Amino acid sequence: MKKGEVGLVLLLITVGLGLALSSSSSSSSRGYNEYDRDRWNPPPSYRTASSSSMVLNRVGSSIVLPVDGNVYPTGSYNVTLLVGNPPKPYFLDPDTGSDLTWLQCDAPCVQCTETPHPLYRPTSELVICKDPICASLQPGDYRCESPQQCDYEVEYADGGSSLGVLVKDVFPLKLSSGGQLSPRIALGCGYDQLPGSSHSFIDGVLGLGRGKSSLTSQLSAQGLVRNIVGHCLSSKGGGYLFFGDDLYDPSRVTWASMPRDSKHYSPGIAELTFAGKPTRSRNLLILFDSGSSYTYLSSQAYEDLASRVIRELKELKGKPFKEAIDDPTLPLCWKGRRPYKNIRDVKKYFKPFALGFPGTGQSKTEFEIPPESYLIISSKGNVCLGVLNGTEAGLQNYNVVGDISMQDKMVIYENERQMIGWAPASCNKVPKSKAFRS
Ligand SMILES: *[C@@H]1O[C@H](CO)[C@@H](O)[C@H](O)[C@H]1NC(C)=O
Ligand SMILES: *[C@@H]1O[C@H](CO)[C@@H](O)[C@H](O)[C@H]1NC(C)=O
Repeated sequence: MKKGEVGLVLLLITVGLGLALSSSSSSSSRGYNEYDRDRWNPPPSYRTASSSSMVLNRVGSSIVLPVDGNVYPTGSYNVTLLVGNPPKPYFLDPDTGSDLTWLQCDAPCVQCTETPHPLYRPTSELVICKDPICASLQPGDYRCESPQQCDYEVEYADGGSSLGVLVKDVFPLKLSSGGQLSPRIALGCGYDQLPGSSHSFIDGVLGLGRGKSSLTSQLSAQGLVRNIVGHCLSSKGGGYLFFGDDLYDPSRVTWASMPRDSKHYSPGIAELTFAGKPTRSRNLLILFDSGSSYTYLSSQAYEDLASRVIRELKELKGKPFKEAIDDPTLPLCWKGRRPYKNIRDVKKYFKPFALGFPGTGQSKTEFEIPPESYLIISSKGNVCLGVLNGTEAGLQNYNVVGDISMQDKMVIYENERQMIGWAPASCNKVPKSKAFRS
């Protein structure tokens, strides 16, 4: 999405990282000047990117990475990736709402936020401007002003951004069936970052979107795994991320087709049902975005949902909940008769809601969201609604399913067949690779 096309840039509240707006190298919206851009002269040892092609599509292999973090109180997830030669570890926020992977980078750094690890120093080559991966990150009308390098800028829906230059470096990765890969992957060396409203203490972003620059696309273009990425986030915190098709049985997954023209992962248009009953909210354009901690519904649907939840609470015998106006955690919180510790203590008072997609044939495809996947318990022991008003957040007509609602499900972004799938799962344990199953 280009800047200005939709007003995703100026968000007032946290939208996680998701939804990268595509870059514009001629943008001066941040007071960035060309002098800075050209300041990084790569050391002479940097070679120009050479293309290696190895086209064998390894079917039946996967790469699995443990995920750390939670929706609340941390507010973000991260995976540890090794990059470079010798390899060094970095904490990256896995984001299916954007494409480019980047690290805060000593190029030198003009503006970096605090990082858990020392800043990344590229250990190999620059990506040239003509590289298709570079082109995929630029606006349509861009010119290669410096042909030997690729400048990029990405902006996120929460107001954060990264500006830098593309390099290629080694990503040592283990296959779940055993075996070691060392692909060279294009990534951003980000030397000018602005933190967004949902900023967390990380080294960079792991871009997992549909574009050419995403890690998923690059691994598959090199024939290493199929063009499939998935995650399983546990409501107890943590989980895992995977690439490839080896960890699930497709016949046990609920699938929805992605609209072909969608730049983002979208299972299409949905209707909202609450406790199994239809609401007024139909024609909701849904995006799945692991870079967003909470779920966002556009104003009408948000109002539908919030009013149903409130009505259900009012109808409870003895009215055990009242609105906790003094709890700033999220816009809508309720105080119970006692402070709660765990969502399991309160889930019986709340009903599930669901997003229904037109399925194949007669059957409808439902994405069910139980109370555990739309509520949190705040540090004050109140129950808060983890679904927010997307219109207020500047997301216009997009409805973003965030981490909170994807918990305890395996969510699969299947770029080979343009499908998104989900299946109930316990995400604390990585399932065995098919290679080890008989
Ligand atoms: C990221 O992961 C590391 C290692 O698993 C963990 O120590 C760290 O606290 C995590 N950071 C965040 C912000 O979740
Ligand atoms: C959602 O946000 C919009 C824009 O700020 C506002 O007009 C609308 O009243 C909000 N809806 C609800 C139900 O709060």
